[in-house]
This record gives sequence, C-alpha cells and structure tokens, in this order.
Amino acid sequence: MPTAMESGPLLEVEHLCVTFSARKGSFGPRLALKAVDGVSLEVASGDVVGLVGESGSGKTTTARSILGLQKPDRGSVLFEGREIQSLSGPDLRALRKRIQLIPQDAIGSLNPRRTVRQTISEGLQVHKLVPKESRQERVDELLADVGLAPEFADRYPEELSGGQIRRVCIARALSMGPSLIVADEPTAGLDVSVQAQILNLLQELRRRHQLSVLLISHDLSVVRYLCNKVAVMYFGRIVELGETRDLFSDPKHPYTRALLEAAPTVSAIGRGNELKGSIGGEVPSLAAPPAGCSFHPRCNQFHQGCDEISPELFELGGHRSVACLLYSDRSQ
Ligand SMILES: Nc1ncnc2c1ncn2[C@@H]1O[C@H](COP(=O)(O)OP(=O)(O)OP(=O)(O)O)[C@@H](O)[C@H]1O
Ligand SMILES: [Mg+2]
Repeated sequence: MPTAMESGPLLEVEHLCVTFSARKGSFGPRLALKAVDGVSLEVASGDVVGLVGESGSGKTTTARSILGLQKPDRGSVLFEGREIQSLSGPDLRALRKRIQLIPQDAIGSLNPRRTVRQTISEGLQVHKLVPKESRQERVDELLADVGLAPEFADRYPEELSGGQIRRVCIARALSMGPSLIVADEPTAGLDVSVQAQILNLLQELRRRHQLSVLLISHDLSVVRYLCNKVAVMYFGRIVELGETRDLFSDPKHPYTRALLEAAPTVSAIGRGNELKGSIGGEVPSLAAPPAGCSFHPRCNQFHQGCDEISPELFELGGHRSVACLLYSDRSQ
C-alpha cells in the first residue's frame, strides 16, 4: 500500500458546501439552510481524524457528502486523488467499497427482517467478493473479527443489544475491505462500559486492517482516546484543526475551549462521562445565521469586529489552524 508521503492524502475535502432548502411554514418563502459552509479537511493514510462539534454542526452532512450520499453545492471530495463526483459505473462501485460508513442511526440502518448473516452477506454477494460456498465462513470470520460468536449470525436486529448492533455495522463495513472508515457517532447512546469496548474494538481493527478513520463524535473524550488529529466544527464550519495532543493541551478557539470545559473532568474512557456539562447559549438556527463569526453570540472573548467579519481558517504553524479574529492578521 502506498504511504501518504508517496501519494498525498487518502481523503481530501475541499471547500465543501451543502445547502438544504426548506419552506418556512406551509406557504412561507423557501429558505436556503447552509448546513456545511466551506469545510476542508484531510485524512492521510493511517490517520484517525476526529470531527467534533455539538448537535447540528453539520458533521453527518459532511460525512454523507464524503460518501457521495449527499450532493454538495460547492467544493470537492477527492479520494486517493480522484474526485468522487466525477466517478461513475465500475469506478464508483470500487470506491464505494473502499470508503465505508458506520452510520449514526445504526439500528435504523439494519433491515429488521434480515438476520445478521443476511445483512453481512449482502455486500459480499453484490460485489462478488467471495465465492458462494465460502460466504458462510467469511461471515463467521467477520463476526469473530468484531467479537461476536457464530450463533449471532442467525439473530435479528431486535434480538441484539446496542453494542452488538454497532459490532454488526462494523462487520458489514469491514466485509467490503475498506481503506477508510467513516464512523458517525459509533458510541452514542451506549453505556459507558460498552462505549469503551466499541472504541477498543475500533482501535484494534484499525491496527489489524491498516484502516484510516474519520471519527465523528460530539464527545471530546472519545476523540481524544482514538484520534491523532482533530477538526472542531461549529455551525457548518471547521473552527479549529490540529494534532490531538496540542489541541487538548492548548485549545485556541473559544469554542474549542468551551467544548473542553464542558467535557468530563475525568477523561478516562469508562469513567466520568456522566460529569458532562454544556456550553452556555444555544446553537443559532440555520434559518437565521448570525452576522460575522457564527460563534460570537456565545463567545466569552467577543470583541470588535466579531459580529461583522466571518474569519477564515488561519494557519498558526505546528499543524494548527484556527478561524478566530483573536489569531488572524486583522486583529494584530
Ligand atoms: N435533509 C435536511 N433538510 C434540512 N435541513 C437538514 C437536513 N439534514 C440536516 N439538516 C440540518 O443541517 C444541520 C446539520 O445537520 P447534521 O445532521 O449534519 O448535524 P450533526 O453535526 O451531525 O448533528 P448531530 O450531532 O445531532 O448528529 C442541522 O441544522 C440539521 O437540522
Ligand atoms: Mg450527526
């Protein structure tokens, strides 16, 4: 496999914009809701990149665009240097195998009338990945890979726990032999101890199968545990990017700081998640975006210009970028 050094990033998202159209009331005017507003990020081969932000910040919409499930109105998504939107036919099918999603709505993504075996076999069959006679064996291998005994193959989704459902979704993703996994809130709604098991599993599989991962979570402790880089998203934009260690030890953007302050005080996975607080104020409505920096109505470092200028991501050096006037040329 070529290294990132030789071939450039595995995934490059550039200036991605996604606008939804909605009507205000039954007969009101149509509104353009900018859910993703100029997102750029990279995942190099072997990277585990965290995408964090509160609910509604545009994480899932970004993920869906990366997978080609949501058409962006601007920007591009390059996978191994190739623009996803330009692909069709066999090239698109090949790419669909190489990027796999562990969806946020894990239970909703499983057909309740299909057994685990049928769910995991489907991709193997459609993409003719293994001969028919080896399919059963391959499903058993995949189940073992995600820590499920062979007898789970004959169960239906309703007979599974939340953690087991995630494991089935992970096995289904692995069945395609991906190089990139986009895991959208893989631990949301699980008990703290089960969250830790799922994160450990992802960590182990990443090493065993040399996977790169884009890990989406609103929970900073999850990202801290698994990721080497973090992108912090607020109201459709990346507001801070950096190496995990640096970002956690020295957060720059007031939003990142607020997120960290609201995070559990005991950061170890498996303890303390219940201590979580929340950031003061509310995420604005997409129907009425604030002027200037979208975080300014909640920001404790608000100063002149913040309600007028929408700051671009500004490189601070040391692989750190921040979109805040406190750090941009204009404020110096
Ligand atoms: N199909 C749609 N039509 C209109 N608005 C949408 C649509 N899908 C998402 N949105 C809006 O876009 C914004 C971003 O949604 P998205 O699901 O990407 O956020 P998220 O960061 O994944 O949130 P969460 O943490 O709750 O999963 C939200 O305000 C959401 O209401
Ligand atoms: Mg989401």
